[in-house]
Amino acid sequence: MSGFGRDGSGRATLGGRLLSELRAEAGVGTPAYFYDLDAITQATRELVAAFGAAPGFVAYAVKANTAGSIVRAVAQAGGGADVVSGGELAVALGAGVGPERIVMSGVAKQDWELDRAIGHGIRAIQLESVEEIPRVAARALAVGKAARVSLRINPDVAIDSHAHIATGHDEAKFGIVARDLPAAFGEVARAGAALRLDGLSTHVGSMLTTPGPYLESARVVCAAARELRASGQELAFVDFGGGFGIDYGGAPVEPPPAFVRAALRLLPEQGLADLALAIEPGRSLVAPFGVLVASVVQSKTSGSRRWCMIDAGMNDLLRPALYGARHRIEPIEHAPSSPEWQVVGPVCESADDFGLHALGPDLPQAVALRDAGAYGFTMASEYNGRALPAEVFVAGGRVAHVSRSPGVEAWVERRLGA
Ligand SMILES: Cc1ncc(COP(=O)(O)O)c(C=O)c1O
Repeated sequence: MSGFGRDGSGRATLGGRLLSELRAEAGVGTPAYFYDLDAITQATRELVAAFGAAPGFVAYAVKANTAGSIVRAVAQAGGGADVVSGGELAVALGAGVGPERIVMSGVAKQDWELDRAIGHGIRAIQLESVEEIPRVAARALAVGKAARVSLRINPDVAIDSHAHIATGHDEAKFGIVARDLPAAFGEVARAGAALRLDGLSTHVGSMLTTPGPYLESARVVCAAARELRASGQELAFVDFGGGFGIDYGGAPVEPPPAFVRAALRLLPEQGLADLALAIEPGRSLVAPFGVLVASVVQSKTSGSRRWCMIDAGMNDLLRPALYGARHRIEPIEHAPSSPEWQVVGPVCESADDFGLHALGPDLPQAVALRDAGAYGFTMASEYNGRALPAEVFVAGGRVAHVSRSPGVEAWVERRLGA
């Protein structure tokens, strides 16, 4: 796998090609995301291979990066999709993901989204509350087709992560907590033939560094699966969710296949060897293989403070402002060197701050914000009258596709017309 690297002279590369050359070949300005499609393909293949002969599938959490080039690459490498909206469902289907490998999560799925999911016969609509169950059953009757569903269990497992990305604790809005499971089973039974309950699922949160908490929540799902089976309910799969972390330049994390192997060992231990396993990785398949390239616009020194203002802001990459996340920022033409600069974006918010980075005594013209392949472009906005960034997809050492920025003029026209 590749992603961001440096050549012998210290110049930044992506997918083995100089970033400066890729920029020229793509003919885009800044800010622009660059992705290494080959590395994404390889990461997906490795995860699919970790299943060996065991039944199951990798449902790529499309929310991490919805670009068609990326979803297609994942699908061609054997991956499926975890979608959270009708829009993401359409992208997954359009990119060639078969309905058999699509699951849909979300706490407030709208009727039209449910209708499409049921109509396409996706593998599972993940039911996130007792109250949602009769509503999905009613939509199935309206569509005239049984809905294949799973119950998303909230395992009440706390993870050592930012509060905004911990989803599996008792107070979270996601999933059905243990005390409500009997009521959920009852609702499913009442729905009769409108619903076909095929699986149980969970997702405990993001940025897990070891399989420990993943297995803890998986055990809760397994216990519920055994209970359901004892009551005579047939089940085909369990879905332990995603959340495999990546190394953003801090501590190393266990690679995603280690989570799959641990989950596959757990199933026979839990007396569930015959169940298929689904997983929902997002970040780990794309984050390390994307960079956001930005130009340095302005410097400012004030006392001992040294600022570097770039043309990418929190509207292009929200994670630092939203989660306090740190992305390494490095010069493109040479390796990092002291002194450090406080790198900030142009947006009129104090939160538009990317932290201290070693950019050298003389500021470079352009920098790369590393590990930006996930939850980057998908969270981008036009706040402050800024155009969405361009995206460049690299495969086989060449620019395979460019998605250009719509440009500021398009934004002006739309707002004037509003
Ligand atoms: C239901 C669900 N599955 C999977 C994921 C993917 O998580 P990650 O990108 O950390 O792998 C998320 C992320 O928010 C999620 O909400």
